[in-house]
Amino acid sequence: MSSYVVLGAQWGDEGKGKMTDYLAETAEVIVRFQGGNNAGHTVEVGEKQYKLHLIPSGILYKEKLNIIGNGVVVDPEALFKEMDYLGALGEDITPERLLISDRAQVIMPYHKILDELKEEARGKNDIGTTKKGIGPCYTDKVERCGIRVCDLIKPEVLKEKLQEYLEMKNTLISKVYEGKELNFDEVYEAYVKHGERIKPYVTDTSVKVYDSIKAGKKVLFEGAQGTLLDIDFGSYPYVTSSNTVAGGVCTGAGIGPTMIDGAIGIVKGYTTRVGKGPFPTELNDETGDWIREKGFEYGTTTGRSRRCGWLDLVILKTAARISGLTSFGVTKIDTLAGLEKLKVCVGYKLEDKVIDYFPASLEDLAKCEPIYEEFDGWDESIKDARTYEELPENAKIYLKRIEEFTGVNISIISVGPRRDQTMMVNSL
Ligand code: GDP
Ligand code: IMO
Ligand code: MG
Repeated sequence: MSSYVVLGAQWGDEGKGKMTDYLAETAEVIVRFQGGNNAGHTVEVGEKQYKLHLIPSGILYKEKLNIIGNGVVVDPEALFKEMDYLGALGEDITPERLLISDRAQVIMPYHKILDELKEEARGKNDIGTTKKGIGPCYTDKVERCGIRVCDLIKPEVLKEKLQEYLEMKNTLISKVYEGKELNFDEVYEAYVKHGERIKPYVTDTSVKVYDSIKAGKKVLFEGAQGTLLDIDFGSYPYVTSSNTVAGGVCTGAGIGPTMIDGAIGIVKGYTTRVGKGPFPTELNDETGDWIREKGFEYGTTTGRSRRCGWLDLVILKTAARISGLTSFGVTKIDTLAGLEKLKVCVGYKLEDKVIDYFPASLEDLAKCEPIYEEFDGWDESIKDARTYEELPENAKIYLKRIEEFTGVNISIISVGPRRDQTMMVNSL
């Protein structure tokens, strides 16, 4: 048995897509278990760049099975757009390559509208969501008024549910948020068509995942977002609406914890965040700008510029604990080449105490002052390094400190966006 989770250890955009694609070479099944098209995962193979949002990052290998699990929220319009985009790049997406859970929740037009309207209504207290309808869709799932993929493919069931729910949503849109109501016939007709197109891909994916693992196939679970965007453990309320940590795999793919062999936390060599919310090691200065430009830190999904800051080991230690990480995959240390000194956060000073975990209360977090260790940087470009030995000594010292502080080894080091700019330095 060998099944691994690839998840974000920070605030997302750590390079999960790149790492999943790299690891997928030796896997047979690749599964998304949470989130939706709020994710933006970039994969580069040779000179070609692919931006994926909903479809797992194993899709570029023609013979692998990719699965969108029940924990994912699926926007059919976004899904078909992505299928067409891949089709135009020579990747024909057939049910042999992609399956979608019949239990996954469907993002409806009113979810996207409500995401916008709610953010607007929050004013300066907005969350800075991607406005893809993620939060409102998960809200309906929990409120038990969601439409699932198994409903979408049955026009009569869809009609009944949509009649009931659309009326509720229209009241909310027009009476509470003063927005424009949606027309039933238009939504229904469009979604019946979506149901027809999605149908060949729909199945009970938890059976597929279970059977694959039982048959000894290597399965990869590809996380979206990151640990600090987790609905329970993130910087609440500035989080996404799903469980991004390893625990999310069990409910989001429909397997038991005993079927998972390990979890790889993907870590960017520094820290970034898109959207609002606390960020203790944020650099609102020239160094932050330098990192943003050198690392091209602009969102894959929304194009927003990412806030940049020093590496925060408190966050990594928290991620290692919550997800039981078995190793780290580190990306973008190539971006750091050229900085004379690097700082790394090893604790927070909270009033008269020093803590090494991420506090729950935003009020406590606001009082936290990062405690830094300083490291000498390196000038050499490391984009062409393919073995650990080729890395500059100072880069090795920097990486060693991550392992020492967290007690978790680094298994993979990425030195550029391309698939081949990757080295395996330890077991997963
Ligand atoms: P994800 O959401 O975690 O999959 O990450 P994104 O794709 O949103 O953002 C990561 C960005 O960094 C993408 O543009 C990747 O192509 C790029 N990237 C990934 N690994 C590396 C690396 O090691 N070095 C550099 N320079 N870029 C990388
Ligand atoms: P990947 O998978 C970075 C952030 C948004 C916002 C918050 C809530 O590419 O790492 P949502 O639309 O989910 O309700 O927004 O979460 N966010 C991400 N930030 N990477 C992502 O995905 C993100 N997905 C959501 O910016 O702050
Ligand atoms: Mg991303």
